[in-house]
Amino acid sequence: MSGVFTGRLRTRATGLHPPADASAYRSTALRSPRHAPIQLPSTASEETGPVFGHDLIGPTDADLTRNFGPGGAIGEQIIVTGHLRDEGGRPVPQALIEIWQANAGGRYRHRNDGYTAPLDPGFGGCGRCLTDAQGAYAFRTIRPGAYPWPNGGNDWRPAHIHFSVFGAAFGQRLVTQMYFEGDPHIALCPIVQSVPDARAIDRLTARLDMDATIPFDARAWRFDITLRGLDATPFEGRP
Ligand SMILES: [Fe+2]
Repeated sequence: MSGVFTGRLRTRATGLHPPADASAYRSTALRSPRHAPIQLPSTASEETGPVFGHDLIGPTDADLTRNFGPGGAIGEQIIVTGHLRDEGGRPVPQALIEIWQANAGGRYRHRNDGYTAPLDPGFGGCGRCLTDAQGAYAFRTIRPGAYPWPNGGNDWRPAHIHFSVFGAAFGQRLVTQMYFEGDPHIALCPIVQSVPDARAIDRLTARLDMDATIPFDARAWRFDITLRGLDATPFEGRP
């Protein structure tokens, strides 16, 4: 993602990412491929562009408590921070990280979300930032609420934040979800449990980080992302 990779690639960790068809996650039966995937070679245009403009990032884009409406967002004030690294542990700078999430009541600002929890006029639910020279990123937001989803009749998503990591071009994009340490819904959620490796689920679970906490203001949660290799963060759509 940053410059030319010159190291040796390690074997991709098969069995780390969730399968396309996970029986307990019912809708995967309808949308998983019926046939084996076909590998298409990428073209130069896919690998080199289009690219986003780094100067398009606004000063409050990484602050979801202030980037939508007047008055700020309702909920537990939190910092979500971490490092983006490659499989060799090297920082990945200047990568675009985007997040989206439900509000404190568990409701998305989306026309297809019919959950009864109210919308928060001060919260849109989206943010973005660039990693710095050390591969570090940070968002200020509110802790999202759990929400029910139609699967088995009484399934609830753990509190989570969706992450997208862009590479040097739009053809390079990874999507995953971050969970919160100690949430009992993690063990009950068919989507989380479709990740077949308990250690991989652990890597999707952010840890309380008292060192990054802002005293009398916001608690901090640490979520590091590894792009590839045996310690890779599980990503969606990468069986
Ligand atoms: Fe979600």
